[in-house]
Formats: sequence, C-alpha cells, structure tokens
Amino acid sequence: MASVHPLNGTTTAAHNPNPISPSEIQSEFSHHDSTIARINNGSFGCCPASIIAAQQRHQLLFLRQPDAFYFNTLKPSILQTRVLIQNLIKADHVDEVSIVDNATTAAAVVLQHTARAFSSSVFQTGDAVLILHYAYGAVKKSVEAYISRTGGHVIEVRLPFPVKSSFEIVSEFEKALQMGKANGRKIRLAIIDHITSMPSVIIPVKELVRMCRDEGVDRIFVDGAHAIGNVEIDVKDIGADFYTSNLHKWLFCPPSAAFLYCKMSDELSDLHHPVVSHEYGNGLAMESAWTGTRDYSAQLVLTEVMEFLSRFDGGIDGIMRKNHENVVEMAKMLVEAWGTELGTPPEMCSSMAMVGMPACLDIKSSSDTLKLRKHLRECFKVEVPIYYRAPLEGEVDPLTGYARISHQVYNVADDYYRFRDAVNTLVKDGFTCARLSK
Ligand SMILES: Cc1ncc(COP(=O)(O)O)c(C=O)c1O
Repeated sequence: MASVHPLNGTTTAAHNPNPISPSEIQSEFSHHDSTIARINNGSFGCCPASIIAAQQRHQLLFLRQPDAFYFNTLKPSILQTRVLIQNLIKADHVDEVSIVDNATTAAAVVLQHTARAFSSSVFQTGDAVLILHYAYGAVKKSVEAYISRTGGHVIEVRLPFPVKSSFEIVSEFEKALQMGKANGRKIRLAIIDHITSMPSVIIPVKELVRMCRDEGVDRIFVDGAHAIGNVEIDVKDIGADFYTSNLHKWLFCPPSAAFLYCKMSDELSDLHHPVVSHEYGNGLAMESAWTGTRDYSAQLVLTEVMEFLSRFDGGIDGIMRKNHENVVEMAKMLVEAWGTELGTPPEMCSSMAMVGMPACLDIKSSSDTLKLRKHLRECFKVEVPIYYRAPLEGEVDPLTGYARISHQVYNVADDYYRFRDAVNTLVKDGFTCARLSK
C-alpha cells in the first residue's frame, strides 16, 4: 500500500501500481554514452535527467539573485536535505547529520579530530588505529597523513579474498583487535567499511562494531561510501560513532554530495570541517553548510531524489532489492560462461558482485588489470573495473582477476552479455595480458 512521505509529501510506495516504465528509465539516463555497456555504477554513480534539471534550477536560483539565495534559501534547503537523510538512516537528531562533499572529506573530518587527540597527548604515541586491508586507497592515504604523522600506530586487518562467509572476516578482525591491544596499547579508532570498494564485499559491520565496543575501542568510524541506496542503513542499530556515505554513488545525486553522521556526544563540538569559514565553531553541520562561495546545488536536490525513488515499485527498498537480485543473476551467468567463481557468496554482494575472470587471461598485476580494463573499454565498449588478487603459494591455476560488476536501474542484461562475449572472444583468440604490455 502506498504511504505519503512525512517530509515532502511524495509517495514512498511499498507497492507502486504505476511504476516508472523501462522506456522512462532509459530516457532518464539518455545522456549516458549509448555505445558503452556501463556496468560500473560503483565508481562514480549516476544522476537521472530529472535530477540534473533540478540541480540546474537550484544553480539558476543562486545566479539569479545570489544575495537572496544566500540569506534566505541556502541554510533552510541544506537543513531539508539533512532532515531527509536523518530519516533515511534513522538517526535520532538532525544535528547528528552534516552534508559534506564526499566520503574523502568526511574521513578528513574524523581523522583530523583523532589527529588532534594524538598531538595534544590525549592519545599516546603508539596507540593504535585499526583499518581494513581493503579500505579505500584515499582513506588509507588520509590515515597516513593524519594518524601516522601524529604518532598513531596503524594496524591493517588482513582479509581473505575470495571470501566464503562473514565468519572469516569476523575472525580476522578479532585477531587484529588482540594485536592492537598487545603491549598494553589502546585502540583509539577503528575504521570499518560497510561495503569495501575493491574487492567489493559487504562487511558484517554491526558485528565488528559490537566487538570494538566490547574491547573498549574509543571511537568507531564506518566508511559506508557505497552504502546509501545500496544496502539498508540504520545508524543506531550499527552503533558506530561516525558513519559516512556518498549520495552521488547509489542515491542518484549529482557529484558531489555525502553525509557524515556523528553520534550525539560531548565530542561533537570538537569536530570541524577541514575548510574553515564563517561558521567555524557553530557545530559541524553549520560549518559544513558554508565552506566559502561555491556551487552547493548537488546538496539541494534530495527532495527531487525522493520523488524519483517513489516512481519505482517499492521505492528505494525495491530498487536495492532488484539491483541485488539482478547483479547476482548476471554474476552467476558470467562465472558459468567462463568456468570461474564468484568472489563472495551472494549474501555478501550488494548491488555489486565480484566475478572471477578466466585464468588463461594471465592477469599478473594491478597494472595488468588497468590495461585490460582499458582494452575492454576501447575495443569492446565495456566499462568495468578489475581487481588483481595475488596468488597464494602453491596454488594451481589461480584466479587472479576479478571484475567488479555493478547493477543500477539503467542496466539491461545486454550490458553483461557484451562483457561475457568480449571475454569469450579474448579467450578464443588466445589473448593474454602480456600482449598489452608491448
Ligand atoms: C569505500 C570508499 N571510501 C571512500 C571513497 C571516496 O569517495 P569519494 O571519492 O566520493 O570521496 C570511496 C570511493 O569510491 C570508496 O569506495
């Protein structure tokens, strides 16, 4: 039964009797390069035409009368976005939600906060910060820049891949927690992905957060860059201190927009946006809402995004469910065609899945995966990222390349068939990555 959204009056239908049609979906994404099978929503997301139009309306409102926009419109509009996000992630209070540019900025907020605790000796030199081995590269660099340089000891949690069950992750995390506590060290911060980027795996985040709490870890930051619009988020149930997600990856916002949730606590007042402007000291949400003159329009389209979501049967939940089912179906089709394996069981796939590529392609390094990706783009018009997995000692015919396929509402089965056929052609031609090195 359809229900009216409490904030914007749109219909967030459990069942929409008149959902958006396939041709309407294609028209919402008609600006995509139609020659490319884009099975990589994960990297940069997508933005439908109706949301691009909404963004342009906001841009024009500013350009038409900037002063009126600045004094009357901007703050209430960002507040509206924050309220909608608060609702989506089930946060208690709107003050817990700030809108920032992207997950990288959110990580800077959290890591600078931790770095200040190291440099002011609230945390001791050598206290530990935990991060997953498969954490996003830019976040790892941020840890290096902010934590290692201020005296924090960084521990990487090694994770298996391919992974057979979330138990394997829990068990590695437990080992890392014990290592972190060795020699009486304290673990000051744990950074846990909700969905890792490469390889893409749903992490049992709630369980890991609980383990951190049991071990007395001071602060927990969940990097859910891929999460909103992809898997359900209930920040209270997850229980971390900080949680970020990009709105431009799976929630149809234009680049760039993200939220940073910070659980209500005394420390909230000591969190700051890395770019200091007029609102410094007025709380992170206010600081983030004005970081100097710039285009804020990507942060203002949430009302229109809610309307877009409501056009789908089941709204956002229906989109997530269908994307997951479709990506798993297409991933199974590919591994069957190539005689390979999935990198994770289906329940650890979100709207992305890891698909083993034929061993005979002889992928020997990350550099090979980049070259192969380029080759697939240029010669076969397929856009898909590939992960290099180093073989274990003694492994016979190991799968060393896994493609990360995504499914978003604009994808059709032909996109994946094109990928299947491209790889089959390479295999039939006796192609190996060594050819691309020349
Ligand atoms: C897990 C993870 N964290 C952080 C980021 C950074 O996101 P952005 O580049 O939008 O800041 C990404 C980007 O793909 C990611 O996958």
